[in-house]
Amino acid sequence: MKQKILVTGGAGYIGSHTVVELQNAGYEVIIIDNLSNSNADVIDGIEKITGIRPVFIKLDCNDKEALNALFATHTGIKGIIHFAASKAVGESVHKPLEYYRNNIVTLLNLLDLMPVYGVDGIVFSSSCTVYGQPDILPVTEDAPVKPALSPYGNTKQINEEIIRDAIHAGLPFKSIILRYFNPIGAHSSAEIGELPNGIPQNLVPFVTQTAMGIRSELSVFGNDYDTPDGSCIRDYIHVVDLAKAHVVAMDRLLENKSEDALETFNLGTGRGVSVLELIEAFEKGTGVKVPYRIVGRREGDIEKVWANPEHANKVLGWTARETVEDTIVTAWNWQKKLRERGIQ
Ligand code: UD1
Repeated sequence: MKQKILVTGGAGYIGSHTVVELQNAGYEVIIIDNLSNSNADVIDGIEKITGIRPVFIKLDCNDKEALNALFATHTGIKGIIHFAASKAVGESVHKPLEYYRNNIVTLLNLLDLMPVYGVDGIVFSSSCTVYGQPDILPVTEDAPVKPALSPYGNTKQINEEIIRDAIHAGLPFKSIILRYFNPIGAHSSAEIGELPNGIPQNLVPFVTQTAMGIRSELSVFGNDYDTPDGSCIRDYIHVVDLAKAHVVAMDRLLENKSEDALETFNLGTGRGVSVLELIEAFEKGTGVKVPYRIVGRREGDIEKVWANPEHANKVLGWTARETVEDTIVTAWNWQKKLRERGIQ
């Protein structure tokens, strides 16, 4: 049996897929989640896939006393994967204080407690949003961090700085920062997937809900960008590929393989796909039409960004395997499962 890992936000979209991969790799997982944007039923899904029910505790990482009690009770936690955060870009503009509190105080609490309980490493969920619109594509990890366009984006930058400063000060732990591009899709079993609250803000849940008839029409935000078809370009990565990178990162931290106490990796496929290409891939892969209309640009959207994933490929020995065509079908299978269950 490998070591004990704490996964904050482990009932969420990326968190739940990562718990599956951690358990498949032999790690013992403790999930904490305040369920603000997730549902405890996901624990059943994880158990169905892996045959192991992870420990789940409803807990808000802002509550330092409760966190302290958790570490005191569940002794021997060696690593943390910190997903718990608020992530809606638009909402963050209207509720900045909530975003700064949720996304920053939680990290401070964890970093404070790590040395007290002998936790060796933390993997942090960051985002390609830190690059803003990169000057050079595909973007590498040493590209400059650009001024954030939203409080959400700013929290990711500040989180990265906090970790960097803590390690520079010699605090006794290591960290790997993972900068995600656009995670999409669901586990191939369709037992877990993305469950947006209310009207989806992200493209793929909106596509699958429109195909299902829950939404009448998808709005494509702009076709006048400087891209081949005029729509924005992103690097869409299968959430299971992304989840697997966390296992490799945790292995690396706990087996002391890191070259530096802090390492940063892009997690993307290296392939840029436009909004219109993504819709086409969905229609081709599923045979279902997605009614859409071109509307104006969405404020704050980046024109085009995709990863240079070579650093992760070489140093972590990890590569995103799934194609966007296959990935989008897993998102549809999940949407169909939700319908079967009467959820959406
Ligand atoms: C954004 C953030 C990212 C964050 C993620 C979490 C930025 C630059 N990126 O990703 O850091 O982690 O949200 O939610 O802030 N689109 C449509 N119609 C829709 C929805 C989206 O055309 O109904 C388009 C968007 O204009 C964009 C693409 O689809 O070009 C992807 O959008 P989305 O899924 O929201 O992700 P990002 O904005 O890339």
